[in-house]
Amino acid sequence: MKNFNTNTTNADEWLTPQNILSALGPFDLDPCAPINRPWDMAARHYTVDDDGLSRPWEGRVWLNPPYGTHTFEWMERLAEHREGLALIFARTETRGFHSTIWNKAHSVFFFRGRLRFCRIDGSQAQSANAPSCLVSYSEADTVTIMRAQDRGDIQGRLCLLQRRAVAAGEE
Ligand SMILES: C[S@@+](CC[C@H](N)C(=O)[O-])C[C@H]1O[C@@H](n2cnc3c(N)ncnc32)[C@H](O)[C@@H]1O
Repeated sequence: MKNFNTNTTNADEWLTPQNILSALGPFDLDPCAPINRPWDMAARHYTVDDDGLSRPWEGRVWLNPPYGTHTFEWMERLAEHREGLALIFARTETRGFHSTIWNKAHSVFFFRGRLRFCRIDGSQAQSANAPSCLVSYSEADTVTIMRAQDRGDIQGRLCLLQRRAVAAGEE
């Protein structure tokens, strides 16, 4: 089994499970999507051939970014864009996590247990050997997380980072 949680140099294609996308979507753009994908992550996709980091981002973004040190360049971009959600490993102690998430995000949702990402043929891989989290930079996206949690679509704990906390169900 490949070890894909090192968050250092691994550039493998590990896709978001469909149930997470449907619990949190719909999304307008996935700026880092696989060229060959078993399902759509969003209405529009950029692939490695487009270099999604250098393209304009429009609408609500789904971001499960490439692994490695580049992860936080993508997180910085989402922090500026604000609209959308990111799924990354919960490397909470790292410099990148502090600069792009602890200091900027609206909330972080920590998944209970380990996610099982998917291969480009749609099959499910074994559990990741690192924990994952969702990162929101807007109140609206935090509410989306809360509603998914209330429905039981995702399990874990939400950590609000900004004082304007919102109650589930409020617009
Ligand atoms: C962890 S996978 C996640 C795929 C997809 N975003 C999802 O949620 O299932 C990261 C993806 O980023 C793509 N990628 C890597 N560098 C990229 C770049 N510069 N621009 C766009 N996509 C890129 C890879 O090909 C890979 O499909």
